[in-house]
Amino acid sequence: MSRILITSALPYINGVKHLGNLAGSMLPADVYARFERARGADVLYICATDEHGTPAELAAAEAGQDVATYCAIHHQAQHDVGRAFGLSWDWFGRSSSPQNHRLTQHFAQVLEDRGLIEERVDKLVYSIDDKRFLPDRYIEGTCPVCGYEKARGDQCDNCNSLLDPIDLIDPVSVISGSRNLEVRDTRHLYVVQTKLAGVIRAWVDSKSDFSSLARSIAYKHLDEGLIDRGITRDLAWGIPVVRHGAPRPGFETKVFYVWFDAPIEYIAATQEWSDAGGGDWRRWWRTDAGADDVRYVEFMGKDNVAFHTVSFPATILGSGEPWKTVDMLKAFNWLNWYGGKFSTSHKRGVFMDSALDILPPDCWRWYLTANSPEHSDSAFTWEQLVAAVNRDLADVLGNFVNRIMKFCEAKFDGVVPAGGAAGPLEEALFADVSAKLAEVTAQFEAIEMRKSAQALRALWVLGNEYLQVAAPWTAIKTDPERAGVIVRTALNLVALYARVSAPVIPFAAEAIACGVGEAWPPVWPSLDARAELDRLPAGRKIATPPVLFKKIEDADVAVWSERFGGAD
Ligand code: MF3
Ligand code: ZN
Repeated sequence: MSRILITSALPYINGVKHLGNLAGSMLPADVYARFERARGADVLYICATDEHGTPAELAAAEAGQDVATYCAIHHQAQHDVGRAFGLSWDWFGRSSSPQNHRLTQHFAQVLEDRGLIEERVDKLVYSIDDKRFLPDRYIEGTCPVCGYEKARGDQCDNCNSLLDPIDLIDPVSVISGSRNLEVRDTRHLYVVQTKLAGVIRAWVDSKSDFSSLARSIAYKHLDEGLIDRGITRDLAWGIPVVRHGAPRPGFETKVFYVWFDAPIEYIAATQEWSDAGGGDWRRWWRTDAGADDVRYVEFMGKDNVAFHTVSFPATILGSGEPWKTVDMLKAFNWLNWYGGKFSTSHKRGVFMDSALDILPPDCWRWYLTANSPEHSDSAFTWEQLVAAVNRDLADVLGNFVNRIMKFCEAKFDGVVPAGGAAGPLEEALFADVSAKLAEVTAQFEAIEMRKSAQALRALWVLGNEYLQVAAPWTAIKTDPERAGVIVRTALNLVALYARVSAPVIPFAAEAIACGVGEAWPPVWPSLDARAELDRLPAGRKIATPPVLFKKIEDADVAVWSERFGGAD
């Protein structure tokens, strides 16, 4: 049995995530996890909240809570809303866990033992009015690379350059807005990435399975030349800097940088899962304990790629220990909100909790998969959402399921008719369905989100086309046995749709499967449509599920545009 480890970028703790976060990491990871589970793979899908760093401190301060309390509350909130969206994590951990403290401190120690960590005196921005050093996100200014005016200290959101706060032009304190800043000396730990450039490049070269977006970002950073990265910060909240288990002299008021400990949490979260009785984490992460057999797939937005192709590999390759590294890195572009960006800090766009106030999770899951920002940025529009729900889900899939099941209830007592000989229409259908099944399977396997959705939709369309031509409502009048063959075939299609649609629309798929008496969770079908469309036993009782997809009305869109903004 193949084993597949799946991680999606860990969402920052600072508030419920917007649809862009969902579309660009958690949702595609979940779709893939569900697909591979249905195929019989042993899947471990890990995620967690990313709880350290300035975003957490800033958000807690704004909420008037201490950081630990804030993180506990928001971890639970993100967990609950993720589950409501059907995210099938095997574990949803916390980067503030004791496991991550231990493992992060372990990596720092091992890197230091191997001569890959140095203590350096740094010049950092000190805010005289705030009486503190200002790390990364506490500073904004103009990007020295592209001129974007709201670049953060650690990274420019416009050109994706990784930055050093000291390089920002015209910097300002995010805490107080003060420009009364000066540069002072402070000690920090650095990972000497320059020593690892060759190792990391060879590692990227060996990863032919990375998506092209991921590869191009990785090489851009390697070609620009790696710089040594500071991995500690002047902050109170985070993982303490220790040395051989004791506080490191001179670092008592410092913690590890959030981007040092966050990816380590992929492993530590698996340890959390282990400690909670899930299984042995080593089998997934240690190549000396069987992890060589694991295929590891990571999902993330493009702003995360440099950290996963350079900094995190520097940590694990630099350790010299036998850790499993990523095999397939799937990176996503941005989902934009009416020409601008979704923004957590500016509360622009639709967020995961309010999304569920207005539509069921499957509608969002389908829309965000069919319009995934995978090969280029994509823009959210209400029109596209309406089309995805009303046309694809309601008119194509919902209508087919409803029509044939209602007909079966009206004319066959809601019982699967006994078979009869398949005619030329069925033969043609078998050929078409086999071809589309192969397409759907190949696209899910390749983690092509949009193409998976297109192929699924094409498979659904076959059902309506078949009913249109076969016309059981006419056949029933003259040839009930023929009508029975059609109903039987179409009900089998319904059951097939439940199985193959489940990765994207698990809630509706379960309702459909239940309606035709099929087992759950689903097993992925073979590519042999003749066999797959002859599964339901004659005489089985079926029951039409309640309305699967309610259509969106113009009036709904008017209310939602008002509530969430948009075109205006
Ligand atoms: N919290 C980061 C973000 O939302 C992602 C962290 S991914 C991990 O951009 F590698 F650090 F875990
Ligand atoms: Zn820039």
